[in-house]
Amino acid sequence: MSTSVVLITGAGGFLGSLLAQALENDSRTPNLHLILADIVEPKAPPNVKAITIKADLTDKTQINSLFETGYGVPDTVYCLHGIMSRGSEDNFDLGLKVNVDSVRFVLDAARFKGAAAGRLIKFIFTSSLAVYGGPLPDVIKPDTIATPEGAYGMGKLAVELFVNEYTRRGFIDGRIMRLPTIVVRPGAPSAATSSFMSGIIREPLKGLESICPIGNSLDSSELDLAAWVASPSTTMKNFIISKHIPAEKFFPHTRVVCLPGFTTTIRQELEALEKVAGKEALKLVKFKDDATNRRVVSSWPARFDNSYAIGLGFAVDEGGMVPVVEQFKKDVEAGLA
Ligand SMILES: NC(=O)c1ccc[n+]([C@@H]2O[C@H](COP(=O)([O-])OP(=O)(O)OC[C@H]3O[C@@H](n4cnc5c(N)ncnc54)[C@H](O)[C@@H]3O)[C@@H](O)[C@H]2O)c1
Repeated sequence: MSTSVVLITGAGGFLGSLLAQALENDSRTPNLHLILADIVEPKAPPNVKAITIKADLTDKTQINSLFETGYGVPDTVYCLHGIMSRGSEDNFDLGLKVNVDSVRFVLDAARFKGAAAGRLIKFIFTSSLAVYGGPLPDVIKPDTIATPEGAYGMGKLAVELFVNEYTRRGFIDGRIMRLPTIVVRPGAPSAATSSFMSGIIREPLKGLESICPIGNSLDSSELDLAAWVASPSTTMKNFIISKHIPAEKFFPHTRVVCLPGFTTTIRQELEALEKVAGKEALKLVKFKDDATNRRVVSSWPARFDNSYAIGLGFAVDEGGMVPVVEQFKKDVEAGLA
C-alpha cells in the first residue's frame, strides 16, 4: 500500500490541530504518516501514525530535522506556522522572522530535500485576505491586485511570490490558500485583530462575557460592518481538497486561490447568537468601541467572487452564520471547544 507522509508546521495551533484530524479521516490520503511540528509541543490525534516535534522554525537546523525523520521526506507540507495579524503588526521584526524568513527556510528544505529524494513536494501555504488594502472594488476577483497595508498582509504576499516562483521553477508544487477569517475559533482569544469575531459567539456560548470592540450598543450602526468569513469545518474540507487538485487545473500564472467564504456583519453574528442561544447569551456581549480595531477590520474586503475557487472544487458554507453558531454550540456541549 502506498504511504502518505504529511508535514504540518504550526500543528499546535487552531487550524493545524484540526487539520491533523481531518487528514486522518481523508480516504484519499492512504496509510497516513504525520509529522507535526510547532514551537509548542503539538498533540497527535489518536489512532494515527504521527511524530510530534517541538521545534522553533526560525532555526534552519530544526527545519531540516523535520525532513529527516524515520518517515522519510514528506510528499506534502502544510505550512501553517506564523505570528497572527496583531502580533506581527505590534512586533514587526518577529513577524518578519517567523512569517517570512522561516517560511523561506521551509520552502528551501522542501526544494532541496524533495529534489534529493526525487520528489516534487506539494507545498500548501495559508495566506490571508490581509494581503488586500487601499481602494478596492466592491467584489474581490482573482485579478484584483493585492496592496497590503499592514505587516501581516505584507509578509503573506511576500511568501506568495516565493511559492509561485518556486512552483514555476519546478522546485515544489505550490498551492496558496487565501483564507477568510475563520469563525468560530475555539480556545482562548488570539492575537488576531479579528479575534473578537469568534469571541462574541464563543464566550457567551460558554456562559462568559465577551467584549465587542465594534460599536457601543446593540443599536450602533457600526455593527453593520461586514466581514468575509468561513467555518472551521468547511475550511478543513478545503485544506484537504487543496492537496488533491491536479496541478494543471490552477491558472498557469499563479497558485493563489481565495478560498470560498461568505459575508456576515457583526450584527448578523449577534442575531445568530440570539437565535441559537437566546437573549441571555446575547446579554453577555458588552460593547467597548475600539477605533483602531474597527479601522483595521473595516479595511479588509468583505465580498469576494467565489467562482474560480468553486470551479477548482473547493467547498462553501451554506446558510450564513446560524449553522456556524449551531455547530459551535454542539462542540461546546460535547466538550470539544
Ligand atoms: N484562523 C484564521 O482565521 C486565519 C485566517 C487567515 C490566515 N490564517 C493563517 O493560517 C495559519 C494557521 O492559523 P491558526 O489560526 O491556526 O493560527 P495559530 O496561531 O492558532 O497557529 C499558529 C501556530 O504557529 C506556531 N508558531 C509560531 N511561531 C513559531 C515558530 N517560530 N516555530 C514553530 N511554530 C511557531 C504557534 O505556536 C501556533 O501554534 C497561519 O499561517 C495564519 O496566518 C488563519
